[in-house]
Amino acid sequence: MNQDRGHQEAEYHRPVLAEVVVELMAPVLPGVVVDATFGGGGHTRRMLDEFGEEVTVIAMDRDPEALANARGLRATVIEANFADIDTAVAAVTDEPISGVLFDFGVSSHQLDEAARGFSYRREGPLDMRMGPDATLSAAEIVNEWPADEIARILREYGEEPLARRLARAIVAARPIDSTATLSTVIADAMPAARRRAGHPARRTFQAIRIAVNAELEAVAAGVTRAVDLVRTGGRVVAISYHSLEDRIVKQEFNARARGCTCPPDLPVCACGNTAEVRVLTRKPVRAGAEEIAINNRARSAVLRAVEKVAS
Ligand SMILES: C[S@@+](CC[C@H](N)C(=O)[O-])C[C@H]1O[C@@H](n2cnc3c(N)ncnc32)[C@H](O)[C@@H]1O
Repeated sequence: MNQDRGHQEAEYHRPVLAEVVVELMAPVLPGVVVDATFGGGGHTRRMLDEFGEEVTVIAMDRDPEALANARGLRATVIEANFADIDTAVAAVTDEPISGVLFDFGVSSHQLDEAARGFSYRREGPLDMRMGPDATLSAAEIVNEWPADEIARILREYGEEPLARRLARAIVAARPIDSTATLSTVIADAMPAARRRAGHPARRTFQAIRIAVNAELEAVAAGVTRAVDLVRTGGRVVAISYHSLEDRIVKQEFNARARGCTCPPDLPVCACGNTAEVRVLTRKPVRAGAEEIAINNRARSAVLRAVEKVAS
């Protein structure tokens, strides 16, 4: 194994905020925990090491390549989109579910594998599908979508200030046949000042990836269904990597914690809704400097957690 590969593999298995995850899951055990984003299996391994027989893990991922990492682990494997977490879990167990963990986004393995087309730093096909269930590919967006639609996703999913300009540049450069060509098209369309502030194609690649995989729809459905799925006293823990994901998690957790939806000026509650969860992270948890120093991915991680108090 050369040094670079060794480094990549270490990154691949280094789970973000693992100590916090273990601390949050400990009180719900013994029981079944769904690792809804198995990836390199870092969090699952950490939980199996910490809790042993106390934890039964269901390892879920939409990427069959990720699930190959579960070989030899004491875990039930499900290839599924976590948007369907309730039905996918019901198909393998009728045990109550004590915990669900989400660690959103792409894995280091997916990013490092040029053939998957996720990386703006590597030559690869315009693919970006996390799994075979994705119905779009990056090539379709880049080479077939109208400029207005491309501009919309760059704005909404990439928070890209130059969305219109970049969308026009993409359309003018068609056909675009690889990630490297797309990166160059974006870099050439950027003003010099932006070229100095991080990789110019980062936001564009993020936006296309989110659209290809319908990531935000999956986060919304997954978090809602996970809260429905866990037993009373069970916990849902979610680690987000950008504000779009985190906003969805925060809103869902807060809405389920609020219960009553009556207007504040109503003297008595008329809706009858009661709080379903208790928020365990008043302030979202972030990685400390030490963890960030050894794991760059931890830099943008934001963890939120809830405990189910009623069904
Ligand atoms: C950041 S990685 C998880 C890393 C893992 N926690 C570890 O410690 O090795 C995210 C994983 O979630 C998967 N994923 C992303 N969105 C998904 C979805 N909607 N349904 C199922 N899996 C998804 C990706 O395929 C990827 O393998």
